[in-house]
Amino acid sequence: MSIASQTERVIIFDTTLRDGEQSPGATLNVEEKLAIAHQLALLGVDVIEAGFAVASPGDFQAVKSIAEQVGISGGPIICSLARAIRQDIQAAAEALKPAAHSRIHTMISTSDIHLKYQLKKSRSEVLAIAEEMIAYAKSFVDDVEFSPMDASRTEREFLYQVLKVAIAAGATTINIPDTVGYCTPKEMGNLIQGIRENVPNIEQVILSVHTQNDLGLATANALAAIEYGVRQVECTINGIGERAGNAALEEIVMALQVRKPFFNPYFGRSVDSETPLTNIKTQEIYKTSSLVSQLTGMLIQPNKAIVGANAFAHESGIHQDGIIKHRETYEIMEAAAIGLPENRIVLGKHSGRNAFRTRLKELGFDLNEADLNKAFNRFKEVADKKKEISDWDLEAIARDEMQIQVESGFQIEHVQVICGDCTCPTATITIVTPDGKILTDATIGTGPVDAVYQAISKLVQIPNQLIEFSVQSVTEGIDALGTVTVRLRHQERIFSGQASDTDIVVAAAYAYVNALNRLYRYLQTQRLHSQVTDAVISG
Ligand code: KIV
Repeated sequence: MSIASQTERVIIFDTTLRDGEQSPGATLNVEEKLAIAHQLALLGVDVIEAGFAVASPGDFQAVKSIAEQVGISGGPIICSLARAIRQDIQAAAEALKPAAHSRIHTMISTSDIHLKYQLKKSRSEVLAIAEEMIAYAKSFVDDVEFSPMDASRTEREFLYQVLKVAIAAGATTINIPDTVGYCTPKEMGNLIQGIRENVPNIEQVILSVHTQNDLGLATANALAAIEYGVRQVECTINGIGERAGNAALEEIVMALQVRKPFFNPYFGRSVDSETPLTNIKTQEIYKTSSLVSQLTGMLIQPNKAIVGANAFAHESGIHQDGIIKHRETYEIMEAAAIGLPENRIVLGKHSGRNAFRTRLKELGFDLNEADLNKAFNRFKEVADKKKEISDWDLEAIARDEMQIQVESGFQIEHVQVICGDCTCPTATITIVTPDGKILTDATIGTGPVDAVYQAISKLVQIPNQLIEFSVQSVTEGIDALGTVTVRLRHQERIFSGQASDTDIVVAAAYAYVNALNRLYRYLQTQRLHSQVTDAVISG
């Protein structure tokens, strides 16, 4: 069945790797984007917007690699964003070539405010460009999505006219963006109803929405649109994205699952139909959310719906009493539905390699032999310090190893810190540089972490400013692993890093080096890019 005829459920269009990556500091490299794309495929999303191919050589490569490795037959549709410009559409088409199912998502602004101040074009010019570029995109792929940017602030009659022309030119999905997160749910419903009543050819396409969260209404707006006949929603894991972010995939999906009897009639089903309203495997939500948080360095607020650390925690005595007597008194869904592992104590220092490998596999980490060895050594080190290792500890260890694998660059050899109330905090650090030199330095600081960061900075010699430092405990208890997340700024760009250890000063050192390695790799790519440009100019 073609996706265009699957209107009896909601198509999940994930834009974590495009709009999500536009969150300040969430920059991902190609390997990280691939890791997330593989996980999104396991999660069961229908469409992965893998990037904006024309934006940079890195973006192009990421879209291409995802098209090659994740866009296999039976897998998700791989999509690239493209402005309604020939060069953008060509880059998208080229990068998407290896995918079994590909989509070009082209867009142009339609609101008067954007036309006047940003595009400096008249309505008739925009109409002509949209028509021509959709037809151009269609010359490369069958599946073309069109977004009239700032649709919710576009004059209605003009919006209807643009959509009619876009569909006639070949668009197969029409996406309505609330670009600045201005709509309320009732207005969103009216907007969709107006489009369905006034665009004569609208029933030939899938209608979609892209809701931004500036007023905290993104999920509510997406759900309101579904009630009015929208059958694709654009969303991101953990709701990350430009400014206040996008509608969160996990919120939309769980709302459709938990409130299925409410939504069923909008799909022409009986209230008690059991058929799922999306293709998402909800048990993969927690894992996907943690992976995205770790690789982007965007921490999840504890009270975040569905995936926040407190989402299934009950503090008040009255609530706890109710839960013990009958779970549904205070819980509308089970933690297991999103794949949240119970904090089970699974392993200890006497556990063998096989038990370790088996449990990691059960948790969804299929490490290759080399990574498994590194992770197992790490596990033994942690198990020496911490008697009982839970699933959450195992996840932190596995994720650290995955991050280290993608972050080749500087490696920490040794961290030693002296601190206390009658001594100057002093850190001695030994690192191995990317070209194999072993360097050591010692520095004093205002505290142990400051001393460590100053010593590392002196050795690495890449100017940067630390803008965020946070520590989270992976489990309860005094011997818990601590996860440190740092964000640093270099010129206008932000880079993040994360690491876990029972010693938070050691975790802090590794997290800092992970962030520096991202910065280092970014500078390497920039250097390579300018060498190529220079060669082209002089040649
Ligand atoms: O916010 C927006 O309008 C977008 C479009 C490209 C869908 O991101």
